[in-house]
Amino acid sequence: MAIASIFRVSCTLYVAPDWLHNRCMIHAYPVLVIAGSVRARRLCPRIAGWVAEVGRAVSGSVFEVVDLRDWPLPMDDEPGVPAAGQYLHEHTRAWSRKIDAAEAFVFVTPQYNLGYPAALKNALDHLHREWSGKPAMIVTYGGRGGGRCAEQLRQVCQGLHMIPIDMMPGLSLSREQIEGNSGEIEPGTAFAGHLGELREAFEALAAVRGARGAG
Ligand SMILES: Cc1cc2nc3c(=O)[nH]c(=O)nc-3n(C[C@H](O)[C@H](O)[C@H](O)COP(=O)(O)O)c2cc1C
Repeated sequence: MAIASIFRVSCTLYVAPDWLHNRCMIHAYPVLVIAGSVRARRLCPRIAGWVAEVGRAVSGSVFEVVDLRDWPLPMDDEPGVPAAGQYLHEHTRAWSRKIDAAEAFVFVTPQYNLGYPAALKNALDHLHREWSGKPAMIVTYGGRGGGRCAEQLRQVCQGLHMIPIDMMPGLSLSREQIEGNSGEIEPGTAFAGHLGELREAFEALAAVRGARGAG
């Protein structure tokens, strides 16, 4: 009983020694759902919010949406090599703490000209070891689901030594939705046909997390 209480308190306060932290990963570290678009009139926050809801429903874990607009990182402004982990700027150190404290990542991103947004690449490139060894899932959207950008992002995740799962749900936007450029979408309705695939991907992510002692 006393040991159980210590575990609970330690997990909550994030002050446990390393071995205890490892045992407490399930409760202590969130899965970050990183929204890749920062443009005006974007759809991304609504879509990322819906993806996070589905993730919570499938695994019961803590999913937190991270809006890159809240993390303004000037383009490639660190003088050091990110792999060295020596950051000059406080905004990079704050980003480092945020990513370090995550257990896994879900990238939700539109396809831009067959690639993914520069803001997302810049956020990835600012760090290195903070991403390493952690499971990742990629969800893209676009006229045809954004599969080309998913392939590119997958390679970058591998370059940063993440563990990307095989499934990469690609959510199809209608032509009207793209041309309307309203910034409005009801993802639950617009992507109802993708729900099964999304759930399956979250189950695969949970399996990888579980294999690492979390999830
Ligand atoms: C710079 C830019 C490039 C785009 N390139 C593609 C593309 O390659 N394929 C596609 O299906 N849609 C493309 N689109 C349309 C996007 O799918 C659509 O605008 C979507 O809403 C973008 O996501 P966001 O609103 O969250 O930024 C592009 C849009 C922008 C702004």
